[in-house]
Amino acid sequence: MHSNISGTQNHKRPPSSLIFIFGGSGDLNLRKLTPALYNLFLDEWMPEKFGIVGIGRSEYTHDKYRKHLLDGIKKFSRRKGEENGNWKNFAEHISYLQMDAEDEGAYQQISAIVKEREAAFGEHPNVIFYLAVAPQLVPDIAAKLGPLNICADTKCTRIVIEKPFGHDLQSARELNHLLSTMFDEDQIFRIDHYLGKETVQNILALRFANALFEPIWNRNYIENVQITAAETVGAETRGAYYEKSGALRDMVQNHMLQLMCMIAMEAPVSFDANEIRNKKVDVLNAIRKIDHASVQDFAARGQYAEGWMKGEKIAGYRQEKNVNPESNVETFAAVKFYIDNWRWQDVPFYVRTGKRMHNKSTIITLQFRPAPSFAFPREAADTWRPNRLTISIQPEMDIRIRFQAKRPGQDMTLSPVDMIFNYDEAYDEHEPEAYETLLLDVMEGNATLFMRVDQVEAAWKIIMPILETWQNRQPVDFPNYAPDSWGPEDAEALIARDGFNWVTLPSLSGE
Ligand code: BG6
Repeated sequence: MHSNISGTQNHKRPPSSLIFIFGGSGDLNLRKLTPALYNLFLDEWMPEKFGIVGIGRSEYTHDKYRKHLLDGIKKFSRRKGEENGNWKNFAEHISYLQMDAEDEGAYQQISAIVKEREAAFGEHPNVIFYLAVAPQLVPDIAAKLGPLNICADTKCTRIVIEKPFGHDLQSARELNHLLSTMFDEDQIFRIDHYLGKETVQNILALRFANALFEPIWNRNYIENVQITAAETVGAETRGAYYEKSGALRDMVQNHMLQLMCMIAMEAPVSFDANEIRNKKVDVLNAIRKIDHASVQDFAARGQYAEGWMKGEKIAGYRQEKNVNPESNVETFAAVKFYIDNWRWQDVPFYVRTGKRMHNKSTIITLQFRPAPSFAFPREAADTWRPNRLTISIQPEMDIRIRFQAKRPGQDMTLSPVDMIFNYDEAYDEHEPEAYETLLLDVMEGNATLFMRVDQVEAAWKIIMPILETWQNRQPVDFPNYAPDSWGPEDAEALIARDGFNWVTLPSLSGE
């Protein structure tokens, strides 16, 4: 984990690395991976000796491939330019291998490239296989990589796998089993990019580097916790993928449960990768099982209709490309979880995520219990609100504590105010993108922010009853929410039944 990536030169660079990117001509590489590697290069975090080999079926010369990646940098990177010739220096490390990943014989070319680079570097580099491909191709590629001699090197060879990791518990177990026959668990890096976000890592700092919060971070003081990940985008070009996924698989099984682990975990005794992951998996194992019969009391789903967003006409999910016009796939999911342990017993964790919502906003709120007794005159308390801690993950990056203050004047009138820590105001450095942090960790062999086998399976176990119930009981009211809204009525009812309401973007006025 790296909290400072400001380009200062006093840091230790990772060891020599050779990175093969399957899906080298694909979207993820163009938008995220190459920009991340380029930014690491600019910040002097790339190894002294490195190579990047894009693997794909499309035809490219090395030069054309580099040009294609530069176009991606110009569109998608946080630093969009060639940066005084730095792109040229970086691009010299990039090559392209046209290869059919289904052809077993072709994998010998990879071994040949490793040998050749080893000779050029004068040492054996880390060899990293990044599988940025459609999920159904992962088992086959892994099975063909496994027998290569280089994969027997459990110290230097690593395989990186993107989510979704399986599409249910059974398929995740099968994939894990297949990988375990060829790689040690220490070689497998399962990405959940939310864990690489600066504001998500900061939850550990907030909780465990301060004495202030931990004593009240429990059921005695906290009334409920909410996690919202709202997006304004729709399924758009990803209809084919989304039809097989839906919001529960796409966001809740991974990103949302991981955020919940960061909030709910016990203090680690060290920053060792396994120690942190042990503490997180404890949370997953303590989440109360939702029975099939009670799914409707704990979960709500929705699908966006056609409508308007910020003055623009928006297609409904069923009208998106590659989507069945009668699709019942959910684009919104809300779930109430309980964690059965001493710290959190009976504190509800409300989690919701949706596409085509009113704002892009990922926030976590911890609502504290009301003050035990209230001595102020009734009229002082008209706008009284319980204390609340809000962690804004994105796009705003801040932490707010809401408390009551006396309004200036002769009357004793109280109103809620926010104390705010804002990243942009507090730091000059530009925060790294999640993929920068994660790729650097892979090169360094630090698995703290990656999903271990037991975490993935525990997360699937939690959502299986909801998935199965939703599959067996088709919704009758889809589409059931308008674009530019906060999701379906059912989600409001889910939380209102307990006497709470969803917290939307924190505002300076305190509501
Ligand atoms: C991905 C999901 O994992 O996360 C997408 O597949 C979603 O559907 C994306 O849009 C959200 O990521 P971020 O970083 O924009 O919040």
